Amino acid sequence: MIYQIYPRSFLDTNGDGVGDLQGVIERLDYLQWLGIDAIWLSPIYPSPMKDFSYDISDYCDVHPLFGALATFDALVDAAHARGIRVILDWVPNHTSDQHPWFLASRSSRDDPKRDWYLWHDGAVDGGPPNNWVRAWVDEPAWDFDPTTSQWYLHCFMAEQPDLNWANPEVRQAMAEVLEFWLARGVDGFRMDVIHLLGKDPALGDDPEDLKVLSHVVLNDREETHGYLREIRAQLDAHPTRPMAVGEVYLLDADRVATYYGQGDELHLAFNFEPLFQPWRAEAWRGIVDRVLSSHDPRGAWPTWVLNNHDAPRIVSRVRSAERARVAAVLTLALRGTPFLYQGEELGLESVLLNPGEVIDPGFRDGARAPMPWDSSPSHGWASETPWMTWPPEASERSVEAQRGVAGSMLEFYRDLLALRRREPSLQLGDFAYVAAPDGVLAWSRQGTGAPVTVVANFTHDAVEVPQRGEVLLSTIGSRGSQFDGLLLGDEAVLLRPEA
Ligand code: GLC
Ligand code: CA
Repeated sequence: MIYQIYPRSFLDTNGDGVGDLQGVIERLDYLQWLGIDAIWLSPIYPSPMKDFSYDISDYCDVHPLFGALATFDALVDAAHARGIRVILDWVPNHTSDQHPWFLASRSSRDDPKRDWYLWHDGAVDGGPPNNWVRAWVDEPAWDFDPTTSQWYLHCFMAEQPDLNWANPEVRQAMAEVLEFWLARGVDGFRMDVIHLLGKDPALGDDPEDLKVLSHVVLNDREETHGYLREIRAQLDAHPTRPMAVGEVYLLDADRVATYYGQGDELHLAFNFEPLFQPWRAEAWRGIVDRVLSSHDPRGAWPTWVLNNHDAPRIVSRVRSAERARVAAVLTLALRGTPFLYQGEELGLESVLLNPGEVIDPGFRDGARAPMPWDSSPSHGWASETPWMTWPPEASERSVEAQRGVAGSMLEFYRDLLALRRREPSLQLGDFAYVAAPDGVLAWSRQGTGAPVTVVANFTHDAVEVPQRGEVLLSTIGSRGSQFDGLLLGDEAVLLRPEA
């Protein structure tokens, strides 16, 4: 169970309105109480912050806003002392345009770093080399640089030029970045847009109808798998066997599964389909079927994700805290590794900003509101006005308002995490569907420890189901200890089935 921290929005300790690493250190006890195994830190590197540290200008340091290398070292020690592992975000596809590598690369066509990025002549009509568009807006993925009269590729913003992974020097430099952090004790990496590393050397145009998805559709290339095998070999050679989870933003389980290779590429790849599915039992059954049928034959272990810093929050998507609890049961009781995103355990909703207030160039502010720790005006932050507005009902949903309160979302998450920890079958057991009426998804986990049956109602209506057994946990809180087959609307239960 891995908990994603978006450091800017976690906790500010020095009053500048921006969350920092000291804030993470101060809340490790909370995370330990919650029952998580590892934290993944979104980028903390020096950056001009055009994409909030996903535009990195130095891979081997910490942005002063977040702290210093010494703060990071203290964080790793403090996390390890609590049995919490630390996973760092690694952004290998692109740097900031302020990174010294790019400054050198753009300075002249003869610069030794010229070929570290993807420079090309324009088309005959004077436009960009091809019709690729960048992420988020319908604009070319190329910018013209007058200094050398060529165009460079950027799958994201112009301030995020893509590295040329076909160049072995780039791969070597990036391998050194991994070594740098491994030497500081990190336990693994979350690898940003890893499916983009390989680029079509022919630079063919995207078909018009696929243009907007160009990075998704056309850059899922064989070269990338070779790079991943190199990266995996490097990680495997390390005595601590660090973990690699990749952001493979393809929304297609079959293709995502190929990024596990033959057990020689990624350890885990994000499965983002749940972020885009309607709240219907058949839709979720479809995802589960696609994920298991594509992953199982290669021995690939799936992941489950409801939230991250790029997507609207689950409570907002399903428009109900009750359903969000059912969704939490899905992610924590299906077979695979669950990822939680800060504030999910509080039932936070997305912030809706007015057009003039939007901060993020990718329009993803909604899930990036600061964590409310208590119900005071500053919500536990060292400043009352953080870099962005508080989430809806921040006081009622703060950690302080929910901790120790029976039936709260926070206590529910904690109970569910504890149950998963206690029941080996929930972690490692086999998965099989069991009979369920329309609108309900039911499955069993068994083969490792005692069996657990999960029954999840996607509808508002109470329904009779065939399962019976001892109630281990219900999303609606207190219930009798025996389940008699009457599942309430928007309820999920975890049962020890009758023998
Ligand atoms: C990933 C990150 C996103 C970032 C993008 C470019 O999708 O999750 O936040 O903007 O990569 O680095
Ligand atoms: Ca701060």
